[in-house]
Amino acid sequence: MDTHKPNRREFLTTTAVAAGTLALPGIPGIPGVTGTTQSAHASETPTPTTPDAPATQPGSFDFVHLTDMHVTTRRKGDLGYRTCVESVLSLKNKPTFALMGGDLAFDGLYTPKAKYVEQVRLYKEISDGLGIPYHNCMGNHDVLGWSGRRKVEVTDPDFGKKYIMDALQWESPYYSFDHNGWHFAVLDCIHPTQEEHGTGYEPRIGDEQLEWLAYDLGSAGDRPKVVMTHIAAFCNRAQIRGDPEISGMPPGIVLRDTAQLQAVLERHNVKALLQGHTHRPEEYRWRGVWYITSPAVSGAWWAGDFTGAGPGYTLFHCHEDGELTWDMLDYKWEAQLDPDDDTERNRNAQTQTKRDEQARLRDLERAGREGDR
Ligand SMILES: [Fe+2]
Repeated sequence: MDTHKPNRREFLTTTAVAAGTLALPGIPGIPGVTGTTQSAHASETPTPTTPDAPATQPGSFDFVHLTDMHVTTRRKGDLGYRTCVESVLSLKNKPTFALMGGDLAFDGLYTPKAKYVEQVRLYKEISDGLGIPYHNCMGNHDVLGWSGRRKVEVTDPDFGKKYIMDALQWESPYYSFDHNGWHFAVLDCIHPTQEEHGTGYEPRIGDEQLEWLAYDLGSAGDRPKVVMTHIAAFCNRAQIRGDPEISGMPPGIVLRDTAQLQAVLERHNVKALLQGHTHRPEEYRWRGVWYITSPAVSGAWWAGDFTGAGPGYTLFHCHEDGELTWDMLDYKWEAQLDPDDDTERNRNAQTQTKRDEQARLRDLERAGREGDR
């Protein structure tokens, strides 16, 4: 597997200096020229093909997309995640690798550091049990302290993305790699902002990373491509909730620069953008690209179903003709609520009531206008 990434030390240094005004990491050194070490940005001439360039004919293989596992011992979420990993291990065709969609730890934004550190440790220990490579994507809850509710000092040496990246030997927050004639790019959409309380974040890819992505995808040529982000480019939250008052781009829920990202994706034979964050599985196609939000591994943060969607993950099939298909899978985890989870208990009861009513109406409608609706 050939990995292309920005220079991490430079990224961390520039991030600490000024949010939103980052220098391009590595110019020269915009990362991501497939099969070469040349700057993609410099390629006014075609990128040269090297003898060890990856295969350009797509092959067939499977991979899994696991997102929003929010690993924690609360509600026995760690056992839940182990059950998910066992489900992956039991798949008939072993996936070649896993794409981890972010919110890996339960939370670093407003959780005491010691707990967050333990959650990251558990995430790594359990994920290692997959026995296959896994590629991490940054979720908002993976970042230490970028919140007004933070439980760490802003001067903490592990503040921000540093701790989890160190713990997981994660060299760059965004990067790409090739496998068997396919190209994969992993984005970091947790964009730093300066708030009254200090550093916060907004969901944004940002101009620097968008430029990197454009040249990275471009240099991958005709290969079929899959891109991953934590926070969605497209999400139908308002329609799902049936609420006309909800914005089509609610702050914190959808990328601020969806339109700019979409324009890059549609130029480069991107089959799908894999998304997470909302814990609501969705599939949406726009201008040749699928926008797929996988089920959350944790469901409703280990409290059961969320908006009718239970804990799950997605198994993707890459085909030799360059097509991508997928199955969203339920791995059967029953919520283990804590004694003080009354809100969640009531929500689960309401969900069950809705399901029962749906079943009653279905049976009634199948029987054909008999019975009392
Ligand atoms: Fe999440």
